[in-house]
This record gives sequence, structure tokens and C-alpha cells, in this order.
Amino acid sequence: MTFHIGLIGGGNISETHARAARAISGVEVAAVYGTNSEKARKLCVEHGGRPYTDFAAFLAHRPMDLVIIGSPSGLHATQGIAAAKQGLHVLTEKPIDISTRCADELIETAKKSGVKLGVIFQDRMKPHIRQLKDWIDRGLLGELLLADARVKWYRPPEYYANSRWRGTLALDGGGALMNQGIHTIDLLLWLLGDVSRVQARVATQLHPIESEDTATAILEFANGAIGVFHATTAAYPGYPRRVEISGTEGTVVLEHDRIIAVDLRNAPAEGAKFAERDENRSGSSAVVSDFRGHQAMIEDFLCAVRKDTTPACDGHEGRRSLALIEAIYAAARTPDRTAGRKNSNFHWDTSQ
Ligand SMILES: NC(=O)c1ccc[n+]([C@@H]2O[C@H](COP(=O)([O-])OP(=O)(O)OC[C@H]3O[C@@H](n4cnc5c(N)ncnc54)[C@H](O)[C@@H]3O)[C@@H](O)[C@H]2O)c1
Repeated sequence: MTFHIGLIGGGNISETHARAARAISGVEVAAVYGTNSEKARKLCVEHGGRPYTDFAAFLAHRPMDLVIIGSPSGLHATQGIAAAKQGLHVLTEKPIDISTRCADELIETAKKSGVKLGVIFQDRMKPHIRQLKDWIDRGLLGELLLADARVKWYRPPEYYANSRWRGTLALDGGGALMNQGIHTIDLLLWLLGDVSRVQARVATQLHPIESEDTATAILEFANGAIGVFHATTAAYPGYPRRVEISGTEGTVVLEHDRIIAVDLRNAPAEGAKFAERDENRSGSSAVVSDFRGHQAMIEDFLCAVRKDTTPACDGHEGRRSLALIEAIYAAARTPDRTAGRKNSNFHWDTSQ
């Protein structure tokens, strides 16, 4: 069976989607929709398919089994809902949307339409990160105590200046958190479980954008662990993302998407091979040149379609990071009641 894929967006990440899809046997790019006709045409010349600038005509293209959405984040739910209503399976880029209200409508529509819905968080497919998840689930870190996650990335001025949507509240829905930090927020939730309370500060310090370019949060996990999280696009020249997780049985450190330290009381036999530095690690780039994580996400999604099972990151899973980011923004808007007062605090209960 051949899967026919329609790509929505036609920009930077759609190129990654096209390359990842073509690396899978039995998959063809059937059509590309984008508002920039030249970009859509160019993608089709390189990867096949028919270019469209008319969304309704694109959705009517057949054969087409699913769409992969790589348009500006604030359009994901609307476009996903339209595709689901046409009987097309929907795999969308992160974030699922920029509001949980819209995300819920998409989840509901996909369910009613009987189509699969998946959200691309490709880190969940990375071998080292999957290994860490396995160790945590097997209890090798013991009781989880502390998580420390830092996304100190840099985006040059033109990253925002040359884009109509990046850094805007209407289409990006936020900045360093909603666009960049969300990958790591998703990982923390996947690895440590739900967060019950947050305290936060966000700031726009370097870039002339509507949203935050710097954010910091204190997270209290439902399992009792606590964590600190920083995300920025203002840390020149940009560093690999770093996550350190400590439990009663020791600590594991991730840099970018690789384990660089396994300091466990009872280290698993396979631990030694993971604790190496990756000399080819990338600092921080908007371009996903290594498409293997995306390829694995698409393969998993197609498998779920074929076998009628749940994709690794379905709508509900994809919504979790968005909901936590909404809670972080809400906590950051809460006035600082600590100034001049003893024992007061600012926090947002994520159940609110
Ligand atoms: N998973 C990842 O690592 C990753 C990396 C980069 C981007 N992304 C996500 O992909 C999405 C797009 O990011 P990008 O870097 O490709 O941006 P981009 O600006 O390069 O591409 C977006 C494209 O959408 C097109 N577009 C604008 N309005 C549209 C509309 N109404 N309908 C269809 N297309 C429209 C633009 O012409 C542009 O070509 C974002 O949601 C972003 O969060 C994910």
C-alpha cells in the first residue's frame, strides 16, 4: 500500500517533512499547500506532488491519505480540523496549536471524523532519550527528586525580522517557550509526569518581538520532584539544550539529544556506551537537517493508521506541553506578591 501525503506550509519544516517522508518506502508526496506559491512549487519540483495555493482545492486532491501540517503554529488546529472533516489523517508539527481551546476542538473533530491525530515531538524518538525514559520507568534513577532543564539558544535578528509570524502572539502564540522551549517541556512531562504547580517569569530582553525571548519557571511535579526550566533565544551564540535529572539512585545528564553522563548507583550494563560527548552536536538552529527523528515520527504515525492503533504522540499527549506553557504564562502574569512581604508566593496551580 502506498501512503499519499499532503504537506501544509511549504516552508522550512515542510522541507524536512518531504525529505523524511521520501526516506520511507511506500510513501509519496501527493500535494503541497502554502501561501507562498514559489516555495510550494519548488518543494514539488524537488520532492514530487502538485502545488496548491487554494486550500479547498488542496484538501480535495486525491489520492491523499493524510496531511502533515508545517504552517505557522496558530493555524494548526483550524487547518487540521478542515483536513479531518475531509477524512484525512492529521499529523501536525508542535505545538498542536497555540491555545488548548483550539487544540481540544481539533482532538474532538479528529475523533468524530474517525481519523488519526498525531503531534510531532521528534525528541521522543531519539535513541538516547528513549533509553533514559526506559531507565526512569524501570526505577534505575530511584525516586525522582530534581530536574534541571536549560534551553539557552540563540536566534539571529533576521530569524524574526524576515518572518511574518515568528514571535507574534497571533500566530506563534509566544516566543522562546511556545516555539523553542516546548520540545523540552514535552520531554520533562514525558519523563517525569504531570506538573501540579508552577512559578514563572518571562521577559522580552533582546529581540524586538511581541512575545517573550526569555523565560524561567520553577516546576512542582505531581510525583513530588521539583525542577527549574530556562528557555531563551537570546543567549549568544547558542548552546545545546541540557537536561539533568536526579533521583535517589543517581543522575543522568542529556546534552542536545544525547546522554553524556550516567552516574547511577547501579549503572545498567548499557550505560557506558551512552556516556560519550557528541562531537557533532548542534548548538541551536531552526533548521532540522537531521530528519531521522521526523522520519521515525511519520513511520510511527503511518503504523498507527495501518493497524488502527494510537500514535506515540497523539492529540492528548501533544496537548500536555501546551497546557503547561499556558500555566507558565498565567503564573508569569500573576503579580509578584513577594516584594516586601514575608512567606508570600506567586504560583499557578495547573488544575486552575
Ligand atoms: N519539530 C521541529 O523541530 C520544528 C522545527 C521548526 C519548525 N517547527 C514548526 O513548524 C511550523 C512552521 O515553522 P517553519 O520554521 O517551517 O516556518 P516557515 O516560516 O519557514 O514556514 C511556514 C510556511 O507556512 C506558510 N504559510 C503562511 N501562512 C499560511 C497559511 N495560511 N496556510 C499555509 N501555509 C501558510 C508560509 O508561506 C511559510 O512558507 C511551526 O509550527 C513550528 O513550530 C517544528
